[in-house]
Amino acid sequence: MATTGAPRDAFGTRAGFILAAAGSAVGLGNMWRFSYQASEGGGAAFVLLYIGMTLVLGIPIMLAEFGIGRRGQSAPVGALRKVVGAGWAKLGWLFAGCGLLILSYYSVIAGWTIRYAIESIAVGFPADAGAHFGSIAAGGSAVAYHLLFMALTLLVVLGGVHGGIERASLILMPVLFVIVIGLALWATTLDGGGAGYAVYLKPDIEHLMDHKVWRAAAAQAFFSLSLGMGAMMTFASYLDRRANLPASGTIVAYTDFGVAFMAGLVVFPVIFSLGLQGAVGESTVGALFIALPGAFDAMGTVGRVVGTAFFVVLVVGALTSSISMLEVVTASFIDEFKVSRRKAAFVAAGVAAALGLLPALDTNALGLMDKIAGEFLLVLGALLLAIIGGWIVRRQMQEELTQGASPWWALQVPRILAVLRYVVPPIVAVVLFFSARETLQVVVSFFSG
Ligand code: TRP
Repeated sequence: MATTGAPRDAFGTRAGFILAAAGSAVGLGNMWRFSYQASEGGGAAFVLLYIGMTLVLGIPIMLAEFGIGRRGQSAPVGALRKVVGAGWAKLGWLFAGCGLLILSYYSVIAGWTIRYAIESIAVGFPADAGAHFGSIAAGGSAVAYHLLFMALTLLVVLGGVHGGIERASLILMPVLFVIVIGLALWATTLDGGGAGYAVYLKPDIEHLMDHKVWRAAAAQAFFSLSLGMGAMMTFASYLDRRANLPASGTIVAYTDFGVAFMAGLVVFPVIFSLGLQGAVGESTVGALFIALPGAFDAMGTVGRVVGTAFFVVLVVGALTSSISMLEVVTASFIDEFKVSRRKAAFVAAGVAAALGLLPALDTNALGLMDKIAGEFLLVLGALLLAIIGGWIVRRQMQEELTQGASPWWALQVPRILAVLRYVVPPIVAVVLFFSARETLQVVVSFFSG
């Protein structure tokens, strides 16, 4: 298909692009990572800082990705080469590598959610959720479900941008919104959920002043908005010049925050109503894979129906995200090596599947990979994107982001670019410094013990 001369794939509609980008953003990060981070960061304090980071850092960096992608009309490797300069193609390959890394362990977690979704329908939730999770998280079952999820991701990406990614997003995202809203409404009916809402919605000063919470909020914003590795850049490369980039990016960011916020409105009351808050902080997977299934089990039939809906949402969200990661690598292969989409997608998914064997067999390796990619590489990528967009190609960004924007949005572009230039880099640089230090400590302790 994508041999030289053939027209490049493209999104069919503006809504299709927005839903696909929102689909990339909304995923396990909004539920698994967000609830964990929020409970670690003192609930409401984290949520408040997180929305701040989404607005101040997230939207400007997303628009830098959009601008570079649409102007370059190719995957990150080619887009950075064309828009910024030949030497920057290397950064594109770093992005693709980071995509493979994240995809590999993301698929393992998504595999667990598939297993939970199927089991909740077939046999219900386990009575001892902790032991059950321990028995499925690593080993043969984890490998099998990881491969199944990767195959699903591959299937969508093989369908192309319009026929696969856009179509899947147009169907799956509305389903996801409806279920999440339904779940949040249902959670208000729980006895004893009040303590959960209190923790989630009442910020305390102590956590607000903690620099660790600031850093976690920034890293979470990048991960949740799919920033820092060219996913949004790749999607924007399939847009034409009429798309309103600043408006689209803002809608995507608000949607992503909205879903994460609603996921919290489900997770916190459910967990507190059953007194399971202790299980949340125990591990990065505690909230989602141990406390919640335990709660659903304790609620009997209602729990089973609600729990099934919850895990179906997770699978759906994970899939619309994983396709964006696979698309970055696939598109890079297609654009750089002039191979068919079929060949590119198979090779990319194959590498990610093989890489994923490690986290599927060892949950410690999974945690390590998430630290390296999620906490370090994405932050580094975000910083470089801010410097590129705000300093190196600022004039081109001004032109590109204005192109297709409505008059009101066109007026906001210089302001957004000023934030990208002066506000974003110093904050992200500080975050990067501390993230690098912490990641290094984790890596060292992983290999020494
Ligand atoms: N944003 C997704 C989530 O919240 C995960 C994701 C998809 C992602 N594409 C990405 C994260 C690219 C970082 C980079 O689950």
